[in-house]
Amino acid sequence: MSSTAITGIAELVTNDPRTGDGTRLGILRDAAVVVDGSAIAWVGAAAAVPATDERVDVGGRAVVPGFVDTHTHLVFAGDRAAEFASRMAGVAYDGGGIATTVDATRAASDEVLRALLAGRMAELRSQGTTTTEIKSGYGLTVVDEERLLRLARECTDETTFLGAHVVPPGAQRAAYIELVTGEMLTACAPEARWIDVFCEPASPHAFDGDEARTVLEAGRDAGLGLRVHGNQLSAGPGVRLAVELGAASVDHCTFLVPADIDALASGSTVATLLPGVEFSSRSRYPAARVLLDAGVTVALATDCNPGTSYTSSMPFVIALAVRELSMTPAEALWAATAGGAAALRRHDVGVIAPGARGDLAVLDAPSFVHLAYRPGVPIASALTL
Ligand code: NIG
Ligand code: FE
Repeated sequence: MSSTAITGIAELVTNDPRTGDGTRLGILRDAAVVVDGSAIAWVGAAAAVPATDERVDVGGRAVVPGFVDTHTHLVFAGDRAAEFASRMAGVAYDGGGIATTVDATRAASDEVLRALLAGRMAELRSQGTTTTEIKSGYGLTVVDEERLLRLARECTDETTFLGAHVVPPGAQRAAYIELVTGEMLTACAPEARWIDVFCEPASPHAFDGDEARTVLEAGRDAGLGLRVHGNQLSAGPGVRLAVELGAASVDHCTFLVPADIDALASGSTVATLLPGVEFSSRSRYPAARVLLDAGVTVALATDCNPGTSYTSSMPFVIALAVRELSMTPAEALWAATAGGAAALRRHDVGVIAPGARGDLAVLDAPSFVHLAYRPGVPIASALTL
């Protein structure tokens, strides 16, 4: 095992409040990090860096924990640019376009999907993401859901079974839920860490609260952790259901009522905000300030998918969170790193501290604030040792 010292760090965000300036971000200036094998072994002042086998000098850049993108739908084929264009001309999103991607994905071979997935993973990494969750949900048959999860597992351990994305066209609702919670779950559970459901009574294609509960309870009984797409299009039951069942995260949270905020504030479920969706569906943005002020743990993710948010860029999401969700640059960076780790119930990512994985993002900038200050400029890239 070889050790590497990363030196020349003008500003190091550790997310370890015991380190540095005493804030939640634990910022150290003129810092160094030592990675031994794949784990961080030492964090401190550049002047005190211990001897190592290798040295990487980042030349006065800022270093932050690698981004933790906890919500993506990266295994798909096809294109929905025309649907996006029609939305920008005023057509509302209701989940119906998912069927287009399902058709294209079912028709694609493993080799084609593997190549598309590899390209998207490279795109994420080139923008600083080092941990990625990937959902199924564009197969919607036993064979195709299992296939998408198997391909996703070649890229990440954070795989999520989303057979309950929508009721496929032509299927009968009750029979499909029986399939998702029976034969499909049995085939998919070995390839997944999580189960998710699109709980949205406002969509004719997605699932209501009772249906979502059935799906989540079956997943829990099969040993999977719980995640929910909730309150994306309306103030439905998703958020409260997620909190009641102890889900790790409820994602979207765009339309909330006070009871949802109270539930999140008193539970252990992270609220994951996906402002790329509101950007790409021209919807109103979630009330991040209300959640933060209520003490809710907030994460940010891309929701990279061909329908509602075809961006792979966590820096873009951070910039949106600062400008459109009224988060401070510090809150947004924390949510995109430590918040994501909390949403995956992980302690080894989203932080730069001894014992954590050596997953870093190097910024071609002197400060993390540039992530929002320089929107659209490719300043971040992943560095994993
Ligand atoms: O997270 N809301 C449901 N699923 C995705 C969109 C999927 C699609 O439109 O293809 C989302 O927004
Ligand atoms: Fe999603």
